[in-house]
Amino acid sequence: MSQEKLLNLLKVQKCIYPPEDFVKNANVKDYEAEYKRFLENPEKFWEEVANQLFWYKKWDKVLEWNYPYAKWFVGGKTNITVNALDKNIEKGLKNKVAFFWEDEFGNEKVVTYGELYRLVNKIANALRRAGVKKGDRVVIYMPLVVEQIAAMLACARIGAIHSVVYAGFSAPALRHRIQDAEAKLVITADVTIRRGRAIPLKQIVDEAIRDLEYVEKVVVLRRLQPKVDLIGEKEVDFYDFIKDESNYCEPEIMDAEDPLFILYTSGSTGKPKGVLHTTGGYMVGTYYSMKTVFDLKDSDIYWCTADPGWITGHSYIAYGPLLAGATQVIAEGAPNYPDPGRWWRIIEKYGVTIFYTAPTAIRMFMAAGEEWPNKYDLSSLRLLGSVGEPINPEAWLWYYRVIGKERCPIVDTWWQTETGSVMITTIDSLPMKPGKAGKPVPGVIADVVDKNGNPVEPNKGGFLVIKYPWPTMMRTIYKDKERYEKYWNTIPNCYFAGDIATKDEDGYIMVLGRADDVINVSGHRIGTMEVESALVSHPAVAEAAVIGKPHPVKGETIKAFIVLRKDHKPSEKLIEDIKYHVRMELGALAVPSEIEFVDKLPKTRSGKIMRRVLKAKELGMDPGDLSTLEE
Ligand code: WT7
Repeated sequence: MSQEKLLNLLKVQKCIYPPEDFVKNANVKDYEAEYKRFLENPEKFWEEVANQLFWYKKWDKVLEWNYPYAKWFVGGKTNITVNALDKNIEKGLKNKVAFFWEDEFGNEKVVTYGELYRLVNKIANALRRAGVKKGDRVVIYMPLVVEQIAAMLACARIGAIHSVVYAGFSAPALRHRIQDAEAKLVITADVTIRRGRAIPLKQIVDEAIRDLEYVEKVVVLRRLQPKVDLIGEKEVDFYDFIKDESNYCEPEIMDAEDPLFILYTSGSTGKPKGVLHTTGGYMVGTYYSMKTVFDLKDSDIYWCTADPGWITGHSYIAYGPLLAGATQVIAEGAPNYPDPGRWWRIIEKYGVTIFYTAPTAIRMFMAAGEEWPNKYDLSSLRLLGSVGEPINPEAWLWYYRVIGKERCPIVDTWWQTETGSVMITTIDSLPMKPGKAGKPVPGVIADVVDKNGNPVEPNKGGFLVIKYPWPTMMRTIYKDKERYEKYWNTIPNCYFAGDIATKDEDGYIMVLGRADDVINVSGHRIGTMEVESALVSHPAVAEAAVIGKPHPVKGETIKAFIVLRKDHKPSEKLIEDIKYHVRMELGALAVPSEIEFVDKLPKTRSGKIMRRVLKAKELGMDPGDLSTLEE
C-alpha cells in the first residue's frame, strides 16, 4: 500500500493489526491475559520469571516496598554474568554467535558465546589482579566494539560497578563522571571511528583524569597502527592487561540489591544524575522484556542500533539479549556512511529478524529516499522497534511500509534510563496505533494523571506516572538521595520522571514530550541548564537561555539566546567560537544549532529565566500566563 492509502486506512480503522501468524507464534499471545495474571498477584508473577534464572540462593521475599525505596528478591544471591554466559553455555550455546560486529567498511568480527565467555573472564581476572574489588567503580569510555560490552560484563563478574560514558562526551563531561563516581580504573580505546575518520579517545581520557589520584589505571584498547603511545605507569594496553589471565574467573556472589551500574543522565539542573541500578531486579526485568516485548526466539538475529553508552545499550544489548541467549548484530559508526544503504545492507547480510532503532534515524532515512532500502532484501525482518522519543505517524508508517513491508509489527517502546526496561508499548499481539506507544507492559501499572495524582479524562493531557514498583526501577541517584526522592514526591503516590501524555478510551498512551527543561535531540536527553552553564563559562557570555526547537529529523534542536558581556560584539566568528566551546565542555550532542544574541532575557521577578516565553516567541505560540514576568 502507498503511504497515502495507509493513512486513509488508519483514519477508518484507527489501528493496525499484527499479522495472524505473528500472534499465533508470539511469546505473549494474549496481552490482556498476561496483564491480568500480573495484576492478580504481582509478586507471584515476578517470582515465576526469576525462577527461570539461576540463583546461588533464592530470595526470602520478592518485594520490600518502603515508599519510595524498593528492594526486589530480598536475600537472593546471584551473578548476572553467570546467567548471561555460564548458564547459556551449559544449555548448549557455546558455539552460538553472540555478536556479529562490523565497522563502516564491512570488516567483521564474529564472537560466539564461548569466546565472549573467555574474553569476559580474562578481563575480570585482570581487573581483580589490578586491585578492583566488589563495589569499586570502573569507567568505560569506548567505541561500540565487542570489548566494550565484554568490559561491562567483566565488571559485573567481579561485582565492580560500571559507569559507561558515551564516547561522544568531551573531557570535562567525562571528568565530571569519573569524579562523581571516584573511579579506580578507566577502560578506553585509542579511537572511535565515525564517517571514516578516527576520533581520538585516549587523549580525552588523559585530559579528563589529570591530577585525579584515585584513578589508578587506564586500560587502552589500541586499534590503529602504529600503536598510540602509552604514557607513564598508569596506562596499559588492553590485550597486554589480559594476556596471562585464565579463561575462568570465579564470579562474585552478588546480593540481589548489590549495585550493578551507574549511568549518568541529564535532568533539569546543571549536574547530570548518576542513575543507580542493582543486580537481581534488573536481571529479571530485562530478561522478561527481552522475551516478551521483543518476542525473542532462539533462531532470531537481533539488532539494536543503540550504543552501550546509553540505557538502551545496557538493557537491550549488554544484558537483556545475552540473558536470553540471543544472537546480535552490532555496528560501529554512522548509519549512513559510506552511503544510506549501510543499515539495509547489514540487515540483508546477517538476515536480521528483529530490528530496534530510533525515530530520528528513521526520519533521516525517509529523507534519503526509499530507493536505498529497496535495493536490499529485507524479508528476514519480522519485528521492528522504536525508542528514544515520540515517533510521528508519518515516520511510523514509513517504517512499517518501507522497512517492514507491512508484515512486521512495530513496538514503540516508552521507557527511560531510570525505569531500566520498557514500560509501555504494544506487546506483540496488541493492535498498534501509529504515534501512540501503547499500554503498560505486564509488570507495570502506568497512568496519566493530574498534579494530585488523579487520572485525567481520556485524551486530555496529563503527567505520565507509574504507580507500583517494578524490578528494574533505579534504586537511587548516586550520592543524591534527595534527587531520587523527588521522582516519587512530585505527584502523590506516583513515580514521575517528567513526561506529559494522553490516554485514549482503549487505554493507549501517547507520549507528547517532556514537562521539564529537558531537550530531546535525536533521542538523547540534554538538560537546558547543562548547556546554559557551558555557555556562560565562555568569556564573552554574560547570560544564556536555551530552548528546544522542533526539527524534522532530530526531533528537537537546541537554540541558545545569549546576552554578551560588555566589550563583546556579535559576529559569525563569535558564534563559531561559542559553539566550539560547548563542544569542548559537553560534547557534540549538546552544541546549539542556532545562537541568537539578545539584549535581555525574560525573567521572573525572582530572577529565574522564563524559557517558556522564549520558546513561545520563537515558535509563534501563546506564551501563557505572564503575570510573573518582570520585563
Ligand atoms: C526519555 C527518556 C529509554 C531509552 C532511550 C532514552 C523519551 C523514550 C520514548 C517513546 C516517546 C520517548 C521520553 C523519556 N522517550 N522513549 N517511545 N516515545 N518518548 O532514554 O535518555 O533516559 O530518555 O526519552 O521523554 O522520558 P533516556
